[in-house]
Amino acid sequence: MGASVPDHFEHMWRTIQPLGRSDRSGGYFRQPFASAERELDAWFVEQASARGLRMEPDAFGNRIAWWDAGSGPGLVTGSHLDSVLDGGAYDGPLGVVSALAAVDVLRERGVRPSRPIGVSVFVEEEGSRFGLACLGSRLATGAVAWEMARGLRDRDGVRLDEALAELGLAAGDPHPWLGSQHIGCFIELHVEQGRDLVDRGAAIGVASRIWPHGRYRFEISGSPNHAGTTRMEDRHDPMLTYAMTALSASKQARVTGQRATFGRVETQPNSTNSVPSAVTAWMDARGETDEALADLVATITRQAQERAGRDGTKLTVTAESVSGAVDFAPGLAHRIAADHESAAWPIVPTQAGHDAGILSAQGIPSAMLFVRNPTGVSHSPAEHAETADCLAGVHALAETLERLAS
Ligand code: GLV
Ligand code: MN
Ligand code: MN
Repeated sequence: MGASVPDHFEHMWRTIQPLGRSDRSGGYFRQPFASAERELDAWFVEQASARGLRMEPDAFGNRIAWWDAGSGPGLVTGSHLDSVLDGGAYDGPLGVVSALAAVDVLRERGVRPSRPIGVSVFVEEEGSRFGLACLGSRLATGAVAWEMARGLRDRDGVRLDEALAELGLAAGDPHPWLGSQHIGCFIELHVEQGRDLVDRGAAIGVASRIWPHGRYRFEISGSPNHAGTTRMEDRHDPMLTYAMTALSASKQARVTGQRATFGRVETQPNSTNSVPSAVTAWMDARGETDEALADLVATITRQAQERAGRDGTKLTVTAESVSGAVDFAPGLAHRIAADHESAAWPIVPTQAGHDAGILSAQGIPSAMLFVRNPTGVSHSPAEHAETADCLAGVHALAETLERLAS
């Protein structure tokens, strides 16, 4: 890698670091189509323009910045710039900054790609605003229809089509535009969100598969009443149904080797001295196979219904989104893992969702590179990767692009 690339990488990283960072927690609030994420979007446009890349925006806010080399379907690399609420610095932006830096590496080496190379940014990857993860890549590939998605609302009641219209997007009737004719191959570099690479002593890894996962809304209603005068035996308290469900979900996931998390809860009327009238809680569940996930959710739902029966509350469970297992093309993963200058990169699974998974499921050959995360912590202000490992990631991505585009 030329001497100037680490400087470029670190300069880009330092420039975006303050955007959306909370002084209180040190975490990031980069909500789709809102101020910090829009500043990052403008930064990306500027970086692409400084490199003479041709910008291809879509009607949903996604972007691909093209290095118009060679011919045929493009080789695209990138990630996302939005974050979860109070998230880390690396989840998403590391893939975008590394993609731009990898283009710099290839140019510095005088590489002449045989096919166009694109740097992409997909919007609302985390689903933290409109509730549907990988919304941008789902819309772009047609994995979700605009007619369904346009009515999604954020926590303030703003509809997706309204949020996009405010930015001058989604005018008319936008259509999916991404397919394998357009993108011949997609490579997403991402900070690892677990500790497989630490355990293996490797700075870089390649993804084998993504666990199936889903989001489920539990709506529990009960009888609002006075917190002091209502005898304990006379209550129909939805908070109890929720609490026991959260405990039993955690236990069920632990004993079956899967994952279940209640990370968001709303209660009505949210009053200290009242038995609540209603609780809504969102469960994120992930399983090793589609069947394991379905079994886990069915068991948790059955236990929650039984508890609701005992509490005299009423429960409905709605699957807001479910993403099936993704097995990345094994030939591509093995080629990337083995076909390079340093020792073979380990091939590891992940329990996190990614745009690469959506593109892969829609028939676009895709792969992922992971950069070691010393603690494995993610979706938290403590998320981290060492600079040396990030630079190794840039080098790995550049090498991968060079081989796939020659
Ligand atoms: C995306 O980060 C996810 O929730 O898996
Ligand atoms: Mn994430
Ligand atoms: Mn991510």
